[in-house]
Amino acid sequence: MPKPFTLLQLSDCHLSADPAAAYRGQNADANLARLLPACRLLAPDGVVLSGDIAEDGSSQAYERAAALIDGLAPRTAWIPGNHDERSVMAEVFGAVGFEAGPTLEWGGWQIVLLDSAVPHRPEGRLDEARLAPLARLDEERPALVFVHHQPVPVDSPWIDKYPLVEPEQLWARLNSDFVRCVAFGHVHQTFSGENNGIACLSAPSTVANSQPGMARFTHDPTGPKARWFRLRPDGRWLSGIVSAG
Ligand SMILES: [Fe+2]
Ligand SMILES: [Fe+2]
Repeated sequence: MPKPFTLLQLSDCHLSADPAAAYRGQNADANLARLLPACRLLAPDGVVLSGDIAEDGSSQAYERAAALIDGLAPRTAWIPGNHDERSVMAEVFGAVGFEAGPTLEWGGWQIVLLDSAVPHRPEGRLDEARLAPLARLDEERPALVFVHHQPVPVDSPWIDKYPLVEPEQLWARLNSDFVRCVAFGHVHQTFSGENNGIACLSAPSTVANSQPGMARFTHDPTGPKARWFRLRPDGRWLSGIVSAG
């Protein structure tokens, strides 16, 4: 039996130009660095950075993020979040070989990277052009879709104010016969749900998370986290959370 593909999703790192800057009372560089040893133990074959990698869209933030995760996996891909600056991200990450998709072939799976970020807006949107990669998928192979904003409510009013707007545009294009999961970031907490027969999973933040089900961001003391997937070419899969030790 072929070895499963291990995919690691890192999200919402919120690095700033100033490496000493605080993000919700935490240091983004230090917390990402603290999480990485546990990530390396997973020996990921691929990493997806699912947005808000920078807090301020600065090239310094992306350069330090790239340096921190350098060598973590043979392949790394990315999508922007609402705090990112897509052109700066593309320049810095492109120079180090990080991939922007929109579709990748990893371990016999179709990995789809959708850009939901709207400049200077906290909520997300997908238009026809951004949704177009979904029309080109091969229905004979499993697919995993990444998008920064949550396409379902996560029952936390502080972040459900800023969802993926008009998520039905996305759901209408996802076929549960072969799309296994929509994975997102943005919500700064672990969430697991389902819609139309498709799993909906968040990656928690590598810097600061909230306790679930809160009206306001309420610091979760359990530290930085990330999500992993193990993908088999026959479409079977598993997912879970990795924490700093
Ligand atoms: Fe974020
Ligand atoms: Fe976000």
